Amino acid sequence: MSKTVEKKHVGLEVGHIVAKYLFDSEDLHYGDWSGGLEPCVRNFPQAQRRYSERILENLPDGVRTVLDVGGGAGTLARKLQDRGLEVEVVVPSAYLAGKCREKLREGTPVHECTLQDFAPGRTFDLLVFSESFQYIPVAEALDACESLLAPGGHLLLFDCFRENVPGRCPIKGGIRRTDFDREMPRRPFREVLDLDLTEAIAPSFDVFADMLQNLALPLGSVVAEHARSQYPWVTKLVHWKLRPRIDKLQRRYFSGDFDGAAFRKWKSYRLMVFQRT
Ligand SMILES: C[S@@+](CC[C@H](N)C(=O)[O-])C[C@H]1O[C@@H](n2cnc3c(N)ncnc32)[C@H](O)[C@@H]1O
Repeated sequence: MSKTVEKKHVGLEVGHIVAKYLFDSEDLHYGDWSGGLEPCVRNFPQAQRRYSERILENLPDGVRTVLDVGGGAGTLARKLQDRGLEVEVVVPSAYLAGKCREKLREGTPVHECTLQDFAPGRTFDLLVFSESFQYIPVAEALDACESLLAPGGHLLLFDCFRENVPGRCPIKGGIRRTDFDREMPRRPFREVLDLDLTEAIAPSFDVFADMLQNLALPLGSVVAEHARSQYPWVTKLVHWKLRPRIDKLQRRYFSGDFDGAAFRKWKSYRLMVFQRT
């Protein structure tokens, strides 16, 4: 596994531990703030529940078997099981796979591998990607989708797109729009639904911005000040060594550009359903 991929996995695992402790939520997506929910940190679990409901509300008719791709800690998979669906999960992190096994029905297949390496020799009625499509190169994800869906099967993506807007977006991640628009028309998929939910997701970034300014920044200052007074030489050395990295973090997260407005400008968040033809 490459270092970048490993870093992403660790980030998600840390995210799960923090979110579970702070919010008692195990979802690893941004949440959906529609319906007048006030964007603030204590409402995060509610926004995340709303997000999962959005997926459940848009399940295609007649689905019996589901593969939850990049199923995180298994919360959505469990909800799908509670609806009577036969669910399998693909998740390449051993830590998250363990969390899935804890909450899914006994015997639920949890495949600890990437989608690209998953070769079950069977097809599913539905593939669900809840904020996980963006982690996989588009062509590789679609190759896998083609082989895992029989004609008539469905693909549901609820994820972020990196739109073709000039300038440097401080928010990382997202499916590259150019790649998606180039690949999709070449594939045997018919679009059934394309809901633009950017407005419903963007407030998460105002909540993150608030956490950065009012939690991370003051905490960081207190720790840095303490280190400076207690260990001046070590602090100077560490600061000198990590300077480029610190500057990069400051530019990205503390320049005042990392917020819902940036998300609305550079990203879009869609719920899309496609049918394999
Ligand atoms: C942002 S999390 C979303 C988790 C979950 N679907 C949710 O909504 O809470 C992204 C998920 O994609 C998974 N993932 C990353 N790369 C993947 C790959 N190549 N194949 C399958 N899953 C992958 C991660 O392990 C993680 O579970």
